[in-house]
Parts: sequence; structure tokens; C-alpha cells
Amino acid sequence: MFPCIERIAEPPPDDAHIEIAPTVLYVGTPVVLITSLNLDGTTNISPMSSVWMLFDRVVLGMTSTSKGRENAVRNRQIVLNFPSPDLWPKVEAIARGTGCNPVPPHKEKIGYKFEPEKFEASGFTPQASAVVRPQRIAECPIQFEAEVIVCHDPGGDWPKERPEAFQIIEARVVRVHAHPDIVIPGTNHIDTAKWQPLLYVFRHYFGTGFDLGRTFKSEI
Ligand SMILES: Cc1cc2nc3c(=O)[nH]c(=O)nc-3n(C[C@H](O)[C@H](O)[C@H](O)COP(=O)(O)O)c2cc1C
Repeated sequence: MFPCIERIAEPPPDDAHIEIAPTVLYVGTPVVLITSLNLDGTTNISPMSSVWMLFDRVVLGMTSTSKGRENAVRNRQIVLNFPSPDLWPKVEAIARGTGCNPVPPHKEKIGYKFEPEKFEASGFTPQASAVVRPQRIAECPIQFEAEVIVCHDPGGDWPKERPEAFQIIEARVVRVHAHPDIVIPGTNHIDTAKWQPLLYVFRHYFGTGFDLGRTFKSEI
């Protein structure tokens, strides 16, 4: 591995910031509802937000004790369903639910319950996928069907015995679906005037604000 990284011994003075120790580092990422296949063939829904995308890949951080991670690693097929901001109450309706039975003790302690029927509990509607077995969530305007390529533990000194241990899942997107009303007619472009992701910002739900401008690579 890498040798010890040398740190600056005397930080420079900084009147513009104060040093803080936040309990979470969630500055703002989209909420994604991962659908995955349970052993009995039903579909589980796992709300999550530790996600990024590059080219045809998506990378997810999922806690080791979640049913979604277990299903994704076993079945290697998932769907990433992206809710719009108005759907946040349905997301929150299953926030305390897990497909794991028994509920892992560290989750039980903070009020999680076994929830085998996430579609019913949330009010979301199941929709068959085109190329993978887990169902999609019909209400979500953008859906990525994906196949899991690799799953690994975080590097460094993250203690595996911590109940919040997690794994990093890399998946390849094999099919993208969008509601027609957020697609610019006759193109493959999402109309950003019509689509907003639901964002998870320091454990609060947000929509996005106004369009501030575009990067030089934007095609529309
Ligand atoms: C908005 C939101 C974001 C979340 N983000 C993550 C995440 O990025 N990774 C993760 O493992 N769990 C995340 N969780 C917690 C999971 O939803 C939780 O572990 C749940 O039990 C997963 O369901 P499952 O056990 O049926 O897979 C998030 C929950 C909510 C409500």
C-alpha cells in the first residue's frame, strides 16, 4: 500500500472557515431507489444516496447488512430508480424498513422494522424491467437497469467489524428508461427544464433550484 502521507504540521490561518466534525458528510447526492431480487423472486426496494456515475458505470456505497447489497451481489442485477422531489414522502415511508429478517441489531435499536412488502408500504407501483429481473418503480421518471460487475470492501483501515461496514458496488448500465414528458422530443436528451432529481443533503430532502448555467460540454 501507500506509505504514510505526510501532513502539514502548522495549518495556515483561515478566518473564512471554522473547523467542524459533522456526523455525516452528505453534502448532496441524488436519492436512488435500488430495486433488487429477493430469493423468493419478489423485488426489494432500498433507498440510498451514496452514488456516482461515469460513462456507462454507476458506483454505489451500500451497507453490508442491507438486503439490497446482499441481493445485488447474489443476483448481479439491479435497477436504479430516480425519484422526483414530489415523491419524497413515499421514499420516507420505507426509510425505516429493511428486507432483512431478523433486523440487524444496530438497526433495530434505532427503530428499523422488517418490511417484506416495500411496494405496498411506499405506495409505489411495480413495473417489469426490459432486461433484468428486479422490477422497476413506475413513478420514477428515470430508471437505469444495470448489471453488477464488481463489489469490494473500502480500502484503508475501515474496521470490518463495525456494524456500519459497507461495500462498494460497481455496475454497468444496460438500459435507460425515461418518462416521455422529461425527454426532448426526437432526441436522447433529458429536458433539464422538466427534470429534477430528489436530493439528499445532510439527511434532508431537497429538489434542485433554478438552472444556473451550463458547462461547455452541454449538448443542449
Ligand atoms: C434518503 C436515504 C438515503 C440513504 N442512503 C444510503 C446509502 O447511500 N447507502 C446505504 O447503504 N444505505 C442508505 N440508506 C439506508 C438504507 O435505506 C437502509 O439501510 C435500508 O434498510 C435498506 O433497505 P434493505 O435492507 O431492505 O436493503 C439511506 C436511506 C435513506 C432514506
